[in-house]
Amino acid sequence: MMKDFTEVRMLDNFYQTSSFFPMPVVLISTLADSGRTNLGPYSLCFPHNVTGGDYAMMLVTRGSSNTSQNIIRTGLCAINFIPDKKKYMKACVALGYPGETTEEKMKNSIFTLAPSTRSSNGEQRYPELVNEAVQIFECTWDKSFPHEHSDVEYHFLLRVDKIIMRKKWYDCLLKGKGFPRLPVDFGFRDNVRFWFSKHSRPYRVPIPQEKGNSFEMVKYACTRFDPEISWEDEAINKILKVPNIFLKKVIAGVVAEARKEGLTVITSEYMDKIRNKRSGK
Ligand SMILES: Cc1cc2nc3c(=O)[nH]c(=O)nc-3n(C[C@H](O)[C@H](O)[C@H](O)COP(=O)(O)O)c2cc1C
Repeated sequence: MMKDFTEVRMLDNFYQTSSFFPMPVVLISTLADSGRTNLGPYSLCFPHNVTGGDYAMMLVTRGSSNTSQNIIRTGLCAINFIPDKKKYMKACVALGYPGETTEEKMKNSIFTLAPSTRSSNGEQRYPELVNEAVQIFECTWDKSFPHEHSDVEYHFLLRVDKIIMRKKWYDCLLKGKGFPRLPVDFGFRDNVRFWFSKHSRPYRVPIPQEKGNSFEMVKYACTRFDPEISWEDEAINKILKVPNIFLKKVIAGVVAEARKEGLTVITSEYMDKIRNKRSGK
């Protein structure tokens, strides 16, 4: 059946050596012992907890990297998503040379740094952020997740405290139109090179109409939004046609109104009331 395929022997770093694997490229900022911000390029950094409010990323890193040592010591980091520019990728590869101290590597870094949005009164408790980034996840390490896999490999569950985004891309996100150019690390690497793939213009593949928001999906979104507020099925039916990207905003608006009025159950009549109020405005 699979006559055009052959088995690939799996070696260490199997995703690089035995496959092609598209990954993001991020710069992780952490605080070195000296108080200076350290930047390390990473690709094994993916969403891990994606529902239920406790959003988290998973970072896989060498146990001896500056990044892992700094996360273990301070419990803090920021994940900076830098745009796809060749000069930035060159700068990332330069920052990815194992064994250099923060001082050695940062003196040649082309990236500019700004205080964390978590800092107040100029305090230096949080790692700085990369100005050139498109978006940044400010994170706190969740120590309760098993992180020491072996001497060489650490798994960090990073709770996402905050996402900040360049205003231009935030507007695109809300409109569902326009995308930043983010780099893709192609996974495969030989002894002398990293390979990145060029970001091309994103294209759309619409979800077939009949597979639009199902009742279950919308109900799930409504009920998990605020556990103290329940929704009657008829109320949910009234927002089935809301495009997915606006759904959360619509739910948030209804819940906020209901809370203002001290309601705990959202009924079909209440949805009509809100709709009439809004169209009146
Ligand atoms: C594009 C790119 C992606 C990388 N991804 C990872 C990764 O996911 N995990 C890892 O342990 N090292 C990765 N590295 C290697 C680290 O960047 C390297 O170990 C570096 O020394 C880390 O910096 P630090 O010691 O300041 O943390 C990557 C390097 C580059 C250039």
